[in-house]
Amino acid sequence: MNNNYQKELAIAIRAAREAGRLIRDKIYRHQITETKSCLSDLVTEVDRQAEACIVKLIKQHFPGHAVVGEEQEGNCAGEPGGAMTWYVDPLDGTTNFVFGVPFCAVSIALADHGIPVLGVVHDPLREETFTAVQDGGAQLNGSPIRADNTIATLDRSLLVTGYPGNIAKRPRMHLINYKQVIDRCNNLRALGSAALELAYVAGGRLTGFWEVSLRPWDVAAGMVLVKEAGGAVSDPAGQPLQLTEYVDITASNGLIHQELLECLEWPGDMGAMI
Ligand code: 2AM
Ligand code: CA
Repeated sequence: MNNNYQKELAIAIRAAREAGRLIRDKIYRHQITETKSCLSDLVTEVDRQAEACIVKLIKQHFPGHAVVGEEQEGNCAGEPGGAMTWYVDPLDGTTNFVFGVPFCAVSIALADHGIPVLGVVHDPLREETFTAVQDGGAQLNGSPIRADNTIATLDRSLLVTGYPGNIAKRPRMHLINYKQVIDRCNNLRALGSAALELAYVAGGRLTGFWEVSLRPWDVAAGMVLVKEAGGAVSDPAGQPLQLTEYVDITASNGLIHQELLECLEWPGDMGAMI
């Protein structure tokens, strides 16, 4: 048993489940929706209420920690990148939530000097809570999980990707990747919640995932889950992923990681062609 971050983990689970109750109560009701950066970047009262509930609990128990949240003014309270920074996505998969598609999650991570060390991804509709702390393995509702360890080639892999709101910026890259991957894998999904897709890679339900232009709160918790479940997480060059303002990510069971990286195009590869 790893005793690191156990108090933080207990609070993160509690916060995720409290926020999850708000999501579960409201998902099939009409949502008053506003847009953020573009017409497809949605936010609802539930995103804001869920985040307020999570941030309140974290601030109450860890007043010295910074909190970076998707819906916060300026996205930040305290000094991110310092010793302890929480990354909070109160409702990952907001578009699914608004349309009543039951695939969304609460995602809460803690980073120590920029390295994610704790991740909780909670699916309030299936009551599935994925948890991990550094060097402690990954769990689903308290039972150990691991990334798939049987599939070593893309042609047997069930992959998942996503299209952030600004997809129109890079239509060519998405088309090329779709074609290259669909020809070589078992099949490809786009389920609409990066955090929950990463949790599914950690749980061995999906073999690999990639997406461009995500934000740190979309991926920080899932990164810990996948790593602790024995999978791999990297940037497009196969290097350790940094929690920069925008994040291009590949995650997998590890066995297919190199093959997946080699068949993808990334914004940096394509110059003016994107
Ligand atoms: P969200 O629901 O919290 O916004 C879908 O492929 C993934 O992309 C989801 O995790 C979604 O998170 C995220 N996403 C949606 N719109 C985005 C945007 N405009 N910028 C970055 N990420 C976005
Ligand atoms: Ca999100």
